Amino acid sequence: MEKIEEIKKNFLSEIKKAKSLKELDLIFNEYLGKGGKISVFFKKLKDLPIEKRKILGKKLNFLKEFFEKEIEKKKKIFFQKKEKEIFDITLPPKKIERGHLHPLTQTKRKVEEIFTSFGFEVVEGPEIEDEWHNFDALNMPPWHPARDVLSLGKTFYLKEKGYLLRSHTSAVQIRYLETHNPPFKIIVPGRVFRAESTDASHEIDFWQLEGLMVQKETSLANFKAVIEEFFKRFFEKQIKVRLRPSYFPFVEPGVEVDISCPICQMKGCSVCKQSGFIEVAGAGMVHPFVFKAVKLNPREWQGFAFGFGLTRLAMIKYKISDIRYFNSGDLRFLKQF
Ligand code: DAH
Repeated sequence: MEKIEEIKKNFLSEIKKAKSLKELDLIFNEYLGKGGKISVFFKKLKDLPIEKRKILGKKLNFLKEFFEKEIEKKKKIFFQKKEKEIFDITLPPKKIERGHLHPLTQTKRKVEEIFTSFGFEVVEGPEIEDEWHNFDALNMPPWHPARDVLSLGKTFYLKEKGYLLRSHTSAVQIRYLETHNPPFKIIVPGRVFRAESTDASHEIDFWQLEGLMVQKETSLANFKAVIEEFFKRFFEKQIKVRLRPSYFPFVEPGVEVDISCPICQMKGCSVCKQSGFIEVAGAGMVHPFVFKAVKLNPREWQGFAFGFGLTRLAMIKYKISDIRYFNSGDLRFLKQF
């Protein structure tokens, strides 16, 4: 008899816990199905003396009905809930989580906003380039040693002869010069590709920003003024710009552009490697060879050009220690911006 009480207790607690119609079915089978706990008792009846058989039989029938009713009751609750789920159109909809712009896109837009406020136009070019635009017209013929640096082993060449994934946005300088008459000032944000072994500061694709201003008369002093104002607005603080003589085949003279470290204000930190300055761009005055390649007269036109790593600027601004985060798709990274 005690056992029957136990069964009842277990049954009630299981019914209470049940969360779906499926679970109710399982409980039904466990207790009321063929071979279920109640039927096992029914089978035992025939071995009992008639008096006991009567009492137990009554009890079992009563229990069976009780179980059936309890299951029906619970089923009704589920059905009512389901109906509500389906039909209550007045309930507010589930909130859809909103994404946001990738940190690189945010950086690109900020940079575009600053340069357009200076009167620069934003221009784009193809990611698949030919050797003429990526190298030759930029004064980097096949035998030129500078081409090795960017080309040999570093450039992704395509099966189609003469085509490649652009290794720098400077290629777009040529495309624009070929199709537009100066004076003009443009910036070219864009993705570039290099066959690098990846590490914290190298990726096989990253973003650059090219700039080109061509008019009758301009100089490196004009360039310095523009770029200094740009960095001031970009980092929202005073930034010193330092130009160091350097070499790029498509400019003469060519310079390396350093900025005072916006992280430590030149006190020395890990980002500027304790030097107070960070190298951020290459620049210079457009080389006469480049003007000739696009059939412009170098005696008539002057221009300055610059190219910096947009990805690198984002890394400095947001203190991102590893370039590989950008393409990782890791939400823990992305949600910080
Ligand atoms: N294209 C160069 C690079 O990817 C960067 C560069 C240097 C661009 C000097 C320029 C420039 O426009 O004048 O390393």
